[in-house]
Amino acid sequence: MGWSEVSRTLLCCLCLAALLTSVSSADFGDLFQPYWAADHIVAMDGEPLKLTLDNTSGCGFESKKKYLFGQTSMQIKLVEGDSAGTVTAFYMSSDGPNHNELDFEFLGNVTGEPYLAQTNVYVNGTGDREQRHSLWFDPRADFHTYSILWNRYHIRFLVDGVPIRMFANKEAAGVLYPKDQAMGVYASVWNADDWATQGGRVKTNWSHAPFVTAFRGFEIDACEAEEDAAGGCAGGGVFWWDAPAMSGLSPHQRRQLRWVQRRHLVYDYCKDRHRFHEMPGECLG
Ligand SMILES: *[C@@H]1O[C@H](CO)[C@@H](O)[C@H](O)[C@H]1NC(C)=O
Ligand SMILES: *[C@@H]1O[C@H](CO)[C@@H](O)[C@H](O)[C@H]1NC(C)=O
Ligand SMILES: *[C@@H]1O[C@H](CO)[C@@H](O)[C@H](O)[C@H]1NC(C)=O
Ligand SMILES: *[C@@H]1O[C@H](CO)[C@@H](O)[C@H](O)[C@H]1NC(C)=O
Repeated sequence: MGWSEVSRTLLCCLCLAALLTSVSSADFGDLFQPYWAADHIVAMDGEPLKLTLDNTSGCGFESKKKYLFGQTSMQIKLVEGDSAGTVTAFYMSSDGPNHNELDFEFLGNVTGEPYLAQTNVYVNGTGDREQRHSLWFDPRADFHTYSILWNRYHIRFLVDGVPIRMFANKEAAGVLYPKDQAMGVYASVWNADDWATQGGRVKTNWSHAPFVTAFRGFEIDACEAEEDAAGGCAGGGVFWWDAPAMSGLSPHQRRQLRWVQRRHLVYDYCKDRHRFHEMPGECLG
């Protein structure tokens, strides 16, 4: 290829990338609304959204719609400096006592000490499926993309497109799997100094408040649930996350996951023999 062809090709790629981004990401207000302490949420045109925690309250927002399968992503820049005792969460959840929930929870730390990313899966009201990961970058220094992919085959937690955890559908082995409750998309910042940092030993230092987490790049590429039809999905149709190729990771992604497990997995409930009288079904085999 000559230079002009190369630059034309490059230009086309850039145009396509711009087009795809504008199609799939949306303004905060199109997709979300506050559900807790709207006065602690700062939304200014053209600026990242800011959630603040102070000694009066944390805050949070939720999607206006609920979804059945698909992928949601947000770019998040975590609390700078001292964030000990604070938790920033990005999660999907259904309603009710027997709810399902897929969590990213970012556990703060004192200045200079690393954040941990905790993930959890609730099925039919029961969680206790925590994994904790360190990150391969400083999540306070810049925005990074966190995604949850949920299909009939598995739940996939991703950081900058790198899979850090897979929760497989093991219904065939009698393990419950979230599949028949639509979930909303949520984010929040709150005080969890009874457990979050170094097992609750380090408390929130309120003289460093307000604690601010910034969000941008909101994307929900998922099937909108019908208002009344439980389990129904507007439009029906065939979705990319249902494709047979989405039943597992690509060889490249499998290598990435193995690297994360080797280098960044700090805690895995499936390895915690002190905690469970009987290991949860999904941990076996
Ligand atoms: C909360 O913080 C404000 C500002 O720093 C301070 O004036 C106030 O006394 C604090 N309130 C409590 C209950 O600690
Ligand atoms: C879900 O939990 C409820 C109560 O906790 C229980 O009665 C029900 O059997 C559970 N559902 C399934 C499918 O196990
Ligand atoms: C906070 O820093 C300490 C010391 O480096 C580390 O042991 C801990 O895992 C870090 N994260 C949390 C959430 O406590
Ligand atoms: C809280 O932060 C202030 C200001 O940095 C510091 O002087 C104080 O010692 C901290 N408190 C605790 C309990 O660490």
